[in-house]
Amino acid sequence: MNPIFTRTSIRQFTEQPVEAKKITALLKAAMAAPSAMNQQPWEFYVVTNSEKLQELRAGSPYTAPLASAPAAIVICYRDDLKMPEYAQIDCAIATENIWLEMENQGLGGVMIGIAPFTEQMAAVEKVLDLPANLHAFTIIPFGYPAQKKPQQDRYDETRIHFVK
Ligand SMILES: Cc1cc2nc3c(=O)[nH]c(=O)nc-3n(C[C@H](O)[C@H](O)[C@H](O)COP(=O)(O)O)c2cc1C
Repeated sequence: MNPIFTRTSIRQFTEQPVEAKKITALLKAAMAAPSAMNQQPWEFYVVTNSEKLQELRAGSPYTAPLASAPAAIVICYRDDLKMPEYAQIDCAIATENIWLEMENQGLGGVMIGIAPFTEQMAAVEKVLDLPANLHAFTIIPFGYPAQKKPQQDRYDETRIHFVK
């Protein structure tokens, strides 16, 4: 099955820890992403410490999926970039790659939006004690799914406009 058409947001997880080789597969998928001028602005913080996972809930009001997640990847971006304007877009593409690879690995997870909200970014940066040149983009809690969801069919021909 093509994971593009089966991926959903998974917000509840079993207690089963995620194997290191599966986490590596997620990070390889992330770093396969394209980026503006190939600048690869990303740094990945892999959090499995249960206290830190709960502290990350300070990052936004919508972090409930962290409650049962055995792990999370926080994607951050540097500020010494050729095209800083594209850093968040680059990280969003890497996020989608992780999301799709989770599906391949039998895992589930969800993107929790942090950037571009500066207060939320600062909260995550504080929890992870990030150096000043790193900026938090998103938190991706993940693990083995404790819920199953079919993907919605969102194909909508009325959104397509052919210019001939
Ligand atoms: C930029 C972005 C930010 C999101 N932020 C959150 C969030 O803070 N908390 C959450 O539970 N889900 C979050 N989501 C997941 C969306 O709610 C979800 O993708 C959307 O409802 C569609 O559902 P699906 O992923 O199952 O197709 C976010 C998704 C995106 C793309």
